[in-house]
Amino acid sequence: MRKQKKVSESYTIMTELVLPNDTNTLHNLMGGRMMHWMDIVSAIAAQKHSNRIVVTASVDNVSFKQSPKLGNVITLEAQVTRAFNSSMEVHINVYAEDIPAGSKIKTNEAFFTFVAVDQMGSPIDVPEAVPGTPEEIELFDGALRRRQLRLILSGRMKPHDAAELKALFQLED
Ligand SMILES: CC(C)(COP(=O)(O)OP(=O)(O)OC[C@H]1O[C@@H](n2cnc3c(N)ncnc32)[C@H](O)[C@@H]1OP(=O)(O)O)[C@@H](O)C(=O)NCCC(=O)NCCS
Repeated sequence: MRKQKKVSESYTIMTELVLPNDTNTLHNLMGGRMMHWMDIVSAIAAQKHSNRIVVTASVDNVSFKQSPKLGNVITLEAQVTRAFNSSMEVHINVYAEDIPAGSKIKTNEAFFTFVAVDQMGSPIDVPEAVPGTPEEIELFDGALRRRQLRLILSGRMKPHDAAELKALFQLED
């Protein structure tokens, strides 16, 4: 039987300070630096789940709602939502904190997909991911639809085969 692990076992938190070299000319955090940190924190979460080397397979749309500023403390939280065969979806939340002002805002949210690979770089199966809390269950359930959407967009799945997505878009007259 396939090994099972709680999704909460993959929970990873990373804290960064926005320094001058991380910012653009408006003194806001550069998007590329943010995505670099998101990639690292989510790769660690995927490694914790799989106990394997992982590679980034895809990054879902990352939107930048508000700009973290120079001197902000950035907290990135990542956790596996669901594992398939060799791939895992990871959910990331990002917060920016202005400690002197006593304010903290959520700035980003994204889903990254990682694939566990062996020493030769070939995909290898990972444990099943078991959700516990209502929020984890909601993310777990939605992961199948998100996987189908990204596989269609990357040309790896035909829309016709995406049963969950088709059901979602079944509109009544
Ligand atoms: C990701 C990678 C290992 C997939 O290899 P592959 O030969 O296409 O393997 P497969 O077709 O067997 O797919 C393996 C898994 O990857 C998933 N996958 C592949 N491309 C994907 C994509 N664009 N989005 C989401 N999942 C993807 C498949 O759905 C499959 O998942 P499953 O095993 O859970 O069903 C390979 O494409 C790779 O090494 N890419 C480069 C990764 C990298 O270097 N990332 C950093 C870039 S800077």
